This record gives sequence, C-alpha cells and structure tokens, in this order.
Amino acid sequence: MNIFDRIWNSSLGKKYLMALTGAALFVFLIGHLLGNLQIFGPPELINGYAHFLKSKPAMVWGARLGLLACVALHIASAVTLAQLNATARPQAYATKGAYGASTASQYMLPTGIVIVSFVVYHLAHFTVLLPGVNGVGDFSNLKATLHHEQVPDVYGMMVLGFEVGWVVLFYLVAQALLFMHLNHGLAAMFQSLGFRDHVWWPRIQFLARAASVALLIGYCIIPLAIYLRLVGHDYAEMIRFKPKAQTAPPALVAAQGKEAK
Ligand code: HEM
Repeated sequence: MNIFDRIWNSSLGKKYLMALTGAALFVFLIGHLLGNLQIFGPPELINGYAHFLKSKPAMVWGARLGLLACVALHIASAVTLAQLNATARPQAYATKGAYGASTASQYMLPTGIVIVSFVVYHLAHFTVLLPGVNGVGDFSNLKATLHHEQVPDVYGMMVLGFEVGWVVLFYLVAQALLFMHLNHGLAAMFQSLGFRDHVWWPRIQFLARAASVALLIGYCIIPLAIYLRLVGHDYAEMIRFKPKAQTAPPALVAAQGKEAK
C-alpha cells in the first residue's frame, strides 16, 4: 500500500487531509482578498496586478491545478468522512445541536455545496467571462491602457459587475455562508491536527472567529462599496456599455470619454 492509500484508508488520515487542504484554501482566500482590495486604489493598480499574473502563465496554471486538487481532496475527504460517521452511528441524535455541535458544524456540507456553486458562478462571472451571467454585457470587450498596452480592464469589470443588485446579493449571501464554513472549519482544522486542550481550544476558537470575520468584512466591502457608488462610479459611467445601437467596443467608448474631457 502506498502512502496515499494509507492516508486515504484511515479516518485520521482523511481528517489530516481535510485539514491541510482546508489550510491551503484558506491561504488562497487571504491572498485573493489582498489582491481584490486593490480595487480601492486607482484602476491601474488592480489592472497592473491582474496583467502581471496573466503574464506568468506557468505560475498561474500551477496555482490553479494546486487549488483544484485541494478542492477535490477537501470535498472527497469531507464526503467520505460524513459517510463513515453515518455508518458508525446510523441513528441520528434525538436533539439537534447536541453534544456541543454548533449550528455551523451541522451545516458544513450544505454551506460547502453553496460555496462550490458560488465559485462555479464566480468563475463564469469574472474568469471565463461568460456573457449573460453578469447582467451587464460582454466583459471580454473591456480593455484598459496600461503602459501603452491594451490589457483586460479588471477594474472596469468589477465596478460594472457590482452595480447589479442581484449579483451583489448573491455574493453577500455566499460570503455569509463562507464565514459560517470557515468559522467552524478553521477551529476544526486545529482540532484534527491535535490542538485541543482546555488552554488552547478557547484561543483557537477566538482566532478562527477573528480570521473568519476579517475575511467576511474584506470580501463584503468590495461589492457593497461599489454598489453604494463609493468606489469606481465615475469610471463605470465612463465605460458603461452603450445601448445595442452603439457598436463601438467599450474600450473605444472609454477612449472617446477621455477625449471628451
Ligand atoms: C467580493 C468577493 C470577490 C471578488 C471581488 C473576487 C474577484 C475576482 C476576480 C476579479 C477574479 C478574476 C481575476 C482575473 O482573471 O484577472 C477572480 C477569480 C477567482 N476567484 Fe474571486 N473574488 C471574490 C471572492 C472569491 C471567493 C470567496 C472565492 C473562493 C471561495 C474566490 C475564488 C476565485 C477563484 C478560484 C478565481 C480564479 C482564479 C484564476 O484561476 O484565475 N473568489 N475573483
């Protein structure tokens, strides 16, 4: 039996796997948030950052494949552990929430499913740029000029994208469920790794809550600030998609807007 089989075939091994893949996804969430918070700077900042990432395809694809592997292993170990628990205790507890199980711990699987659905939508929205899912128009036409070069206008895409009420609502609901998932999952991760005694457990729970709240606030203020016209409103006005009769691509419209100023 190879090492992976040995890990996979023990429930402790699966718990470790779930904890470590969860930790990697948490690190991604921090990095992704720091990248996205650049929306509060000038458009060149986040556009330059996105352009830099796109100019390093090997790094980006390596990270994407790593993320995909983590998501797949995290879900597979969660599902098989839940099945093992159900087989070990076929009768459900008489009272929900018994034995100190928090509401979040009971909803790890449902919240996880909504988060995965959110990520699928989010990829269609901002990465694959599927027209028709954003309620605005074709984002792949959006270009900005950066150091005399035409680059994807990520700033424009975000400020236009978060002017749509139902999109913002969906993002906020998903972030609330992500918060529930992390609040329990981060503490459970340390528990799986063996840190659970009466001194460390309250500290770990406090830190897990603080990190989840920080991510919740960070991820929610982006769509909210844009929706409330506190960020990027003038820019959105400048590049707004024109009615169908307007054939010029938004980049051209943006350029015309600049000339008119
Ligand atoms: C307000 C919240 C969020 C904003 C504004 C946001 C913004 C973005 C943007 C603009 C991109 C495309 C980057 C590019 O192609 O240049 C992106 C990609 C992505 N986002 Fe988010 N994101 C948010 C929340 C999340 C969350 C909560 C997750 C995970 C649970 C997530 C996972 C991803 C993934 C996996 C990608 C694809 C990265 C790639 O391979 O290109 N995002 N996000």
